[in-house]
Amino acid sequence: MISDAEIEVYYSIKANPAVGVCRVICEAGVDGAEIASSGELIAAMASGFDAGRVLFAGPGKTDGELEHAIGEGVGQINAESVGEIGRIDAVAGRLGVVQRVGIRVNLEDGDSGHGKIRTGGGAQKFGIDESQVVEAIGLIEGLDNVEFAGLHTMLGSQVLDADVMLESCGLGIEMAIRVSAASGVDMKSFNFGGGLGVSHFDDEVGFDVVGFGEGLKGLIGEARKNGALSETKFVIEPGRVLVSEFGVYVSRVVDVKESCGETFAILDGGIHHALLPITANSYRVVIADRVDAGGCEAVMLGGPLCTSADQWRSSVELPGVKVGDVVAMMNSGAYGLTASMNMFLSRGTPVEVLVIGGECLVIRERSTAESVLDGQCISESLE
Ligand SMILES: Cc1ncc(COP(=O)(O)O)c(C=O)c1O
Repeated sequence: MISDAEIEVYYSIKANPAVGVCRVICEAGVDGAEIASSGELIAAMASGFDAGRVLFAGPGKTDGELEHAIGEGVGQINAESVGEIGRIDAVAGRLGVVQRVGIRVNLEDGDSGHGKIRTGGGAQKFGIDESQVVEAIGLIEGLDNVEFAGLHTMLGSQVLDADVMLESCGLGIEMAIRVSAASGVDMKSFNFGGGLGVSHFDDEVGFDVVGFGEGLKGLIGEARKNGALSETKFVIEPGRVLVSEFGVYVSRVVDVKESCGETFAILDGGIHHALLPITANSYRVVIADRVDAGGCEAVMLGGPLCTSADQWRSSVELPGVKVGDVVAMMNSGAYGLTASMNMFLSRGTPVEVLVIGGECLVIRERSTAESVLDGQCISESLE
């Protein structure tokens, strides 16, 4: 039977890159971090992750980012294209090291609706098509400065059903077995990606993490019974499921008005802070000091940005909303500030507060109106 230790968990930093949050996750004992940029590498290092336990994935890695990552000694870089393999080899050669390189595979049979956000199957910017993978491994094997480290797939995100997730993991395992047989290489590692979903309402069934873990061990055990992948180390790299539930996005009601019979509450926060949670339109919203109050009415919530995109797509039920109320969006700790339109209308970024052990710690300061000038080069010759 495969043990828990044989499946490593890497936190996908993109879900919430605040160093205060990453540090808590690192100290909680995850095995490593998955990053997708130089910025995320810096966040990972500042959070206490060991560079050797950092995985660099994602399309569009620049040579500068590769040099940064290889120079830091990241454990593995997952190539998203054949061209990228050559660039990693060249950079590693310049730095005089041999870099471990995995391949993200775009699965041939991955296009079967795994989760809400699809990142595998069909024509994709992600990964190398399965039909080209054996050749890509051959390329790595023939180069001096890279070493083949294994395969990686990810079919989708926000998958709520553990059985659907297991089905996609099963497809990944079958592909790893096919590729291993066709290429003759040792499959040192296989990475199932992230994608474990989060439920937002009491009547939604949450992702069965324990059942998923057991099912995954079962799938791997089955493959091994048939003599496959016996030396392979397995990795999952969840993001959302590790942080979503712990986050609450709060904003204040600045204005309440009626329009064509509908009540609108305009908030001081919007899609510049929480684009994905707001546009998903499926997060529980409450008034912070009247969470269980009755007498609810339908209210359309909108943010302060000058775009109709900055509002909920349908009304929410709130008890007697008034100016000054604090509106809280629950379960919004993932893909909030990090995936938003921070610059729009020059409204700046909000304060981030970590509540831990009964203490409130500011982990990111609110930007000021003057921050709009940060980094801008205002040449005197323009005056
Ligand atoms: C390569 C990779 N790994 C992990 C994740 C994390 O996904 P999730 O937050 O759905 O678990 C993503 C999300 O886009 C990703 O692209």
